[in-house]
Amino acid sequence: MASGPGKGIGIHDLSFATTEFVLSHAALAAYNGTEIGKYHLGIGQESMSVPAADEDIVTLAAAAAAPVIARHGSENIRTVVFATESSIDQAKAAGVYVHSLLGLPSAARVVELKQACYGATAGLQFALGLVARDPSQQVLVIASDVSKYELDSPGEATQGAAAVAMLVGADPALVRIEGPSGLFTADVMDFWRPNYRTEALVDGQESIHAYLQAVEGCWKDYSGQGGHALEEFAAFCYHQPFTKMAYKAHRHLLEYCGHDSGKDAIEAALGHTTAYNRVIGNSYTASVYLALAALLDQAEDLSGRPVGFLSYGSGSVAEFFAGQVVPGYRAQLRTAEHRAVIERRRPLDYADYRELHERSFPTDGGGYPTPVQTSGDFRLAALHGHKRIYQRR
Ligand code: HMG
Repeated sequence: MASGPGKGIGIHDLSFATTEFVLSHAALAAYNGTEIGKYHLGIGQESMSVPAADEDIVTLAAAAAAPVIARHGSENIRTVVFATESSIDQAKAAGVYVHSLLGLPSAARVVELKQACYGATAGLQFALGLVARDPSQQVLVIASDVSKYELDSPGEATQGAAAVAMLVGADPALVRIEGPSGLFTADVMDFWRPNYRTEALVDGQESIHAYLQAVEGCWKDYSGQGGHALEEFAAFCYHQPFTKMAYKAHRHLLEYCGHDSGKDAIEAALGHTTAYNRVIGNSYTASVYLALAALLDQAEDLSGRPVGFLSYGSGSVAEFFAGQVVPGYRAQLRTAEHRAVIERRRPLDYADYRELHERSFPTDGGGYPTPVQTSGDFRLAALHGHKRIYQRR
């Protein structure tokens, strides 16, 4: 079932970045009086990444992609696909700033993709097609998002932010993406963000229901097209708006397929995939690929085993597909670096988090330098004449 030429096409390298700051759910619970068990067990979250005043989807994306470029160079990258639903401009692709910050070749195309949390999976599929057409080319797929809900709303506990950069090419070192894909689209208003709003609107219970319907729809299409049987998969990487959602989704899938949906079966399929999302929070387009990073970084040797991916984006579009883990992948992992980007975050108290949440740039075209809060390589230095000014340290 491997697709494409030679040894297949897929994810050759994967690196992620997250924010300067972190807010613990314990701090949120102390402020709003929620029983902490609701956060730790009920939604399965411990903390959320919070961007500094001088961080955004561009700085996160550049930080995620820089190690990939440092390892592989950029001479074969002819396409950059930037997937996000927290876009900073209605016209210019955020990836163009990243292209410039990282000094990528001018002989490249750069484009931004959007369909809620699903966008990066569309990017990955488009990348597979480009590489199939010319296997000497590589595609840099970046998923970068900041998840922001209204203060004091039920969604507040499911915020987060991160970016994942994936180098897609022929003869990949990590995961060979297989066909077929199971696809599902339904017009639902479970979660959306009109252009005039900085915070998403959501119907929480409807969104959970819509996600479960999409799981069912994708699986039906996937198996109808002759994909793997459920029991063949070593693990499942789900989109994780909060980690408990992956458990709900997998239980739903097991029940739909008439399989044992007991705790042990679910834990065996998902246990290794939630570690990063549990402490980062919802990173929208990046979330399913953070699940993959956590799986590869923590599981026993998965060489040659198929992994299932379920990518869901509200609104809604979803896709189920399989990837086969490439023998020798463990030598390519960035486990220590991934743990370090999580551990280096500085804890915020609730008042400082609230101040950052309420912060926005004036819209009058004046010059507004940002306070220096980040310590990483890339920062948003100012907004000046309606233009974002970025800096590489
Ligand atoms: P809520 O009203 O705050 O919480 O909404 P709840 O009352 O539904 O409780 C949550 C769980 O905690 C329940 O468990 C409670 O029983 C449990 P469940 O019944 O679901 O198994 N609980 C406790 N457990 C242990 N000890 C306790 C305790 N108290 C309660 N003391 C909700 C929760 C997730 C709806 C809310 O946070 C929200 O609206 N979040 C945003 C929407 C969202 O994440 N939806 C997920 C599906 S849609 C999606 O994934 C797409 C998305 O990423 C966007 C995109 O695609 O771009 C969001």
